[in-house]
Amino acid sequence: MSHGDSARHVKQPRVLDDSPESLEYAAKQLASGQLVAFPTETVYGLGANAYDESAVRRIFLAKGRPAHNPLIVHVASWEQLALATCVDPAAPCWRRLQQLAIFWPGPLSVVVPRHPRLAPSVTAGLDSVAVRIPAHPVALALLRRCDFPVAAPSANPSNYVSPTTAEHVANQLVDEVSCILDGGPCGVGVESTIVSLLEDPPRILRFGGLPAEQIARQLQFPLGRLAMPPETAPRILAPGMLPEHYAPRTRLVIAGSLPLSNYPARVGLLAWSPASALLDEHPYVSVAHLSLHGNEEEVCRNLFARLREFDQLGLDLIVVEGCERTGLGRAIMDRLDRAAARG
Ligand code: TXA
Ligand code: MG
Repeated sequence: MSHGDSARHVKQPRVLDDSPESLEYAAKQLASGQLVAFPTETVYGLGANAYDESAVRRIFLAKGRPAHNPLIVHVASWEQLALATCVDPAAPCWRRLQQLAIFWPGPLSVVVPRHPRLAPSVTAGLDSVAVRIPAHPVALALLRRCDFPVAAPSANPSNYVSPTTAEHVANQLVDEVSCILDGGPCGVGVESTIVSLLEDPPRILRFGGLPAEQIARQLQFPLGRLAMPPETAPRILAPGMLPEHYAPRTRLVIAGSLPLSNYPARVGLLAWSPASALLDEHPYVSVAHLSLHGNEEEVCRNLFARLREFDQLGLDLIVVEGCERTGLGRAIMDRLDRAAARG
């Protein structure tokens, strides 16, 4: 390599496949206090040994994440849940946990009393922990190789759009990650739904990849008793749920919230499907659709990747077509509200 080449050399994190050797290496990296990015069915996570305070602190540093925003902890099985949680079998929380376990592995996190061994930073000093069993085979294979739970927020700089491919992670968290396990694009595409079991009836803290209606049906409560409308939900319940989150750098609005006459010069449209009625209403400089067939699962899967692509186009404004707030539409609109919070 010539001198000039080495001057231009940019450090790239190691992107690994899902072979047993790669998984073994990644598990060892975690055990020795390094950060490993790995795929889950929702988004890619930035993982650290949840018992290792200095490893967990590196997650906060790498993301530029405020210390008061607790992380989600991942385990591979019901048995491993005992590594992260401390639930009294006589408490209502225990019964709720068992009721909701039918959704695991899957895009659901529950907030329950924490295990005393967890590093204090994982839970931002709280007595409770958000925990889940992810449904991605690579995540499960990694977690099974660990005798500790793995704390992992989404693997993006704080406040940016969550990553749904290994490439998204590699583009942004270059220096901090020891390796990235590549498990292909995430199948769900939005973060897990979070339910707090610290109160009864339980409370839905974040809409996500598991539709809230399914949780209500399983717990046999009307949805209105589990989920508060966002404007009345007290901040303290979900410490990380700040209004501006998941935002591309480019200004973003939900279609209909800004008069067409106020559109700046270079506007891009993210339409719901190729059949969208919005396509003809303005001379957009870029148009893409969030789904081919107009279904919510597909929109979730594509949403963050499309936002990232549109953020690279040098647009003055991104307009996104919204949807009804039911089923996965709640998670989609929650993400869009947050991305649009800057107006
Ligand atoms: O799908 C997901 O959940 C992804 C993947 C990687 O598993 N993870 C993820 O983590 O979205 P993160 O760090 O972006 O979300 C953590 C959020 C916090 O912002 C907070 O709202 C909630 O989980 N949370 C964590 N611990 C909590 C606790 N003890 N009490 C209340 N909310 C908590
Ligand atoms: Mg996040």
